[in-house]
Formats: sequence, structure tokens, C-alpha cells
Amino acid sequence: MTTFAGKTVFVSGGTSGINLGIARHFAGEGAKVFVISRDPNKVGAAVEELRALGAEADGMSADVRHYDQVEAALADCAAKFGQIDILVSGAAGNFLARAEKISSNGFRAVMEIDVLGTHHVMHAAFPHLKKPGAVVFNISAPQGSVAMVGQSHVCAAKAGIDMLTRSLALEWGPLGIRVNSVSPGPIADTEGQKRLVPDPKAVEERVNSIPLKRMGTLDDVSELVSFLASDKASYITGAVIPVDGGTTLNPTPTRMAQFLDG
Ligand code: NAP
Ligand code: COA
Repeated sequence: MTTFAGKTVFVSGGTSGINLGIARHFAGEGAKVFVISRDPNKVGAAVEELRALGAEADGMSADVRHYDQVEAALADCAAKFGQIDILVSGAAGNFLARAEKISSNGFRAVMEIDVLGTHHVMHAAFPHLKKPGAVVFNISAPQGSVAMVGQSHVCAAKAGIDMLTRSLALEWGPLGIRVNSVSPGPIADTEGQKRLVPDPKAVEERVNSIPLKRMGTLDDVSELVSFLASDKASYITGAVIPVDGGTTLNPTPTRMAQFLDG
């Protein structure tokens, strides 16, 4: 019997990178896993990969900016796999740009994917969450607590997500639902890192700026999520928990700023 055998896990943005790493971890622990993202090819590939691990898995193409799509996906997940035990809101958008170069639409895109999208996932999941017992995760980032050059939109969005985490922990705690943010630092070989540190010298400087002197791995993140989802963490809610090698202590390597200035 594995730790999450028979549990139902829903992951928004669960078709690549860190979120797929989390989906994979739960699939490997016996959970039934449902993933969503915009690109149907990515959804199909992720579902195949999760099934190849022996898990019951499914998914749907959905854009978290559109409530009706999120609602349909959560209803389909619950109809197929039953009440949701573990909910992960991980869909996000990022690009590196100084505030004066971000258009209204650019700022809106990130706020709508990250903040509105998280509200959509929480709201549409609520009727399907196991009460008591469900565990909810919002995927944050160091930008939620420290300012970074070229990241004003993401800083605003992730800080908003962390306040959603605290607010929902307050509202849903009495129902027996725990809500936490997990805040990864720079995770190697992910889309997020490709966007933030696109040149090799910047990567070197990034690594040097991290107190633990290495990028994180997908397993670093999924092991934390796994612990927080377990009964061992049954008194933890409303927390923003870093898994970042100390990145938030030293957030903006100077070369990231130089890169922006050309
Ligand atoms: P990623 O591979 O690009 O993951 C983002 C996921 O969200 C993809 O599955 C993407 O698939 C989906 N997505 C994007 N927009 C969406 C939308 N509007 N509706 C539904 N799904 C959408 O990036 P990642 O680097 O692994 O990041 C994953 C999470 O970790 C994000 O929340 C990010 O902020 C956080 N994070 C990452 C790092 C890092 O080092 N990479 C550090 C800190 C925090 P589609 O394109 O198919 O929609
Ligand atoms: N600098 C400044 N503005 C940028 C930009 C950049 N590097 N990249 C995109 N934008 C702007 C666009 O110019 C557009 O604004 P405009 O209409 O005023 O020109 C706006 O952002 C929306 O871009 P668009 O490509 O139409 O949006 P989208 O909804 O298809 O995609 C993004 C959303 C921009 C966040 C896109 O990068 C994305 O889909 N990201 C998901 C994957 C990801 O970011 N992974 C890492 C997670 S940490």
C-alpha cells in the first residue's frame, strides 16, 4: 500500500515542469491524477506518461482564465475519480521585462493566469473537495515575498496567490481543509528558468547566488508537497513554505538586471 493509494489529485498546469513532477510523484504513490492545461497535445502526453506509471490518470484541455473550462474539468475529474483529496493550482505565466516595458495586456495576462486562475480553480473545486480532509496547494515563487528586477508582474501575482492561500486557509480551516503555498526557488531544466536566466553566464551567477549553491530539482519540490499532503503535516495550514535553497535570502543576481539592459 503506497502513501496516496486511492486518493484523487487534481493539478492545474500539470502537463509540464514542476507541476508534472508533482503529478508524477502522486501517480507513483498510487493516486488517481487529473491534469489540465491549454495545449491538448501536452495534456495527452502527460496523461500517457502518468498512465505508464500504473496510475489511473486523465486530463482535459482548459485555460484557467476561463471559469467555465475550469469548472468542466473539475466536474469531469470528480465524476471519474470521486471527491478531490489533493488540489494543486500551478498554472502560471512569466517573462522577464521591466515594468515600463509591460503593456496593460501583458500585465493582465500574468495576473489572470496566476491570480484569477487560482481563484477559478479554488472556487470550482470547492463542491468536489473532501470535507474534512482535503489538502490544497498553490504554487508560489520567491517573487511572492521579495522584489526582483524584471518581475513586477510576477511579484504582484505571486504575492496575490500567497494572500489567497492565507485567506482560504482561514475560511476553509473550520471545514477541515488545509491550504498552503509551496514556493520553489530556481528549479533546473524548467520553462520558468529558461525564461528568467536565458544565458549560460546568468545561470552560473544564479547558482552562485543561491546559498546552497545548486538549482533545485523536481523531486525537491514534489517531496515537500508530498509531506505537506500527508497526515504528518496535519497541523500546517496558511503557510508559504519555500523549497529554494535559501534563494529568498539573496534574490536578484546583478547579471539578471544586466541582461535586461542589454
Ligand atoms: P511550465 O512547465 O511552463 O508550467 C506551466 C504549466 O501551466 C504548463 O503546464 C502550462 O501548459 C500551464 N499553463 C500556462 N498557462 C495556462 C493557462 N492559462 N491555463 C491552464 N494552464 C496553463 O513552468 P514551470 O517552470 O515548471 O513552472 C510551474 C510552476 O512553478 C509555476 O506556478 C511557476 O510560477 C512555479 N515556479 C517555477 C519556478 C522554476 O524555477 N521553474 C520557480 C518558482 C516557481 P500549457 O502551455 O499547455 O497551458
Ligand atoms: N516582454 C514584455 N511583454 C511580453 C513579453 C515579454 N517578454 N512576452 C509577452 N508579452 C506580452 C505580449 O506582448 C502581450 O501584450 P500585447 O498584446 O500588449 O502585445 C501579452 O504579454 C500577452 O501575450 P500573449 O502571447 O498574447 O499571451 P498568452 O495569453 O498567449 O500567453 C504569456 C501568456 C505571455 C504569460 C505566455 O508567456 C505563456 O503562455 N506562458 C506560460 C508558460 C510560462 O510562462 N511558463 C513559466 C512559468 S514560471
